[in-house]
Amino acid sequence: MVIYKRALVFGATSGIAQEIIKILITEGCSVYCVSRNINKHEALIKDLNVRKDISQNIGGEVIDLNRIEEHENIIYRALDFLGEIDVVFMAQGVLPEHDKVIKEPAYVIDCINTNATNVIHLITIVTNVLLEQERGSIVVLSSVAGDRGRQSNYVYGCSKGMLSIFLQGLRNRLVNQNIHVMTVKPGFVDTEMTKDIQNKGILWAQPDSVARSIIKALKKKKDIVYIPWFWQWIMLIIKVIPEKIFKRLSL
Ligand SMILES: NC(=O)c1ccc[n+]([C@@H]2O[C@H](COP(=O)([O-])OP(=O)(O)OC[C@H]3O[C@@H](n4cnc5c(N)ncnc54)[C@H](OP(=O)(O)O)[C@@H]3O)[C@@H](O)[C@H]2O)c1
Repeated sequence: MVIYKRALVFGATSGIAQEIIKILITEGCSVYCVSRNINKHEALIKDLNVRKDISQNIGGEVIDLNRIEEHENIIYRALDFLGEIDVVFMAQGVLPEHDKVIKEPAYVIDCINTNATNVIHLITIVTNVLLEQERGSIVVLSSVAGDRGRQSNYVYGCSKGMLSIFLQGLRNRLVNQNIHVMTVKPGFVDTEMTKDIQNKGILWAQPDSVARSIIKALKKKKDIVYIPWFWQWIMLIIKVIPEKIFKRLSL
């Protein structure tokens, strides 16, 4: 089992990331949390300081990650704080509002930037830092939605699809360089992001169980992980439906 002692978490106040961080703290990790919302960030840091023991350090900062000119500085501040970085988690993301997607092209591009292009910018810097260390893991929350475009959320799906393909290529590039790249593809998770979705049924997962599965997959150094596992089979079926039929489905 790989032991992680120093973690950098982007989107630290996300429902899923908070659960990941709690596990990391239990396992003796020091954590640098990067959040956007100051109130949520302060509450998180306060909670983590109660949970940690004396050997662990909790730090962090509040920033909008769409300010890409700040990305390098954030990573070097985290590196200063932690000394070295064993694992980086990327959990930031937005679920676009469908009505706005249809009407506002600028909004579409903003969402794609937040979920994909700006995350890719960040990963590129992180990769170079980990390459200098000659080791490390990068864990990125993509989504099952990136596996096939659907009428109800194709902008979100397109951004996550872009991210997944980028990570696939990066993993391929880094295969012999001791850098582990893991693509996480959750299905429906009950968090702030999905709070407006009604009728949550049996396919829905809770963030704490998703976080446990992510840490388990990280320790096994998985490449791509569907969470819960059954989404791999659901998406396999979704992906093989011929386009002629698929375009007529209301998904
Ligand atoms: N929930 C699901 O069903 C589901 C399914 C598949 C994949 N995912 C992915 O899992 C990840 C975590 O999502 P979640 O479910 O835990 O939802 P969440 O609680 O809404 O977390 C999303 C996080 O992203 C942060 N964020 C958004 N835009 C940002 C920006 N420009 N700069 C910095 N931070 C920004 C949000 O910050 P604020 O707190 O300031 O808003 C929030 O902390 C996301 O990448 C999401 O796409 C979620």
